[in-house]
Amino acid sequence: MKINVIDREGRQHELEATPGWKIMEVIREAGLDIKAECGGCCVCSTCHVYVDDAWLDRLPAIEEDEEEILDDACELKPASRLSCQLKMAEELDGLTVTLAPEWA
Ligand code: FES
Repeated sequence: MKINVIDREGRQHELEATPGWKIMEVIREAGLDIKAECGGCCVCSTCHVYVDDAWLDRLPAIEEDEEEILDDACELKPASRLSCQLKMAEELDGLTVTLAPEWA
């Protein structure tokens, strides 16, 4: 299974994604620039990504704690999600996300 990640310079990376892994973990393991300061505990928002429009409806619904943390994220958009709250699964094969800007 694969995901596509667009970095902050606009380069696209096709990454091998293991089912059950968080999308944040896939991105971090590949060495891309994602802080993920809290390690996936849904408290920091530094794993913020923008999900490609074509995939938005196919993702699990956003939960209350994710929504709360996202509210504090930098440059929030309708396609914003925390990548630590998205788990790789067969139905997400081919998912495309873009890394959100870092905090200044
Ligand atoms: S890694 Fe901290 S909220 Fe996702």
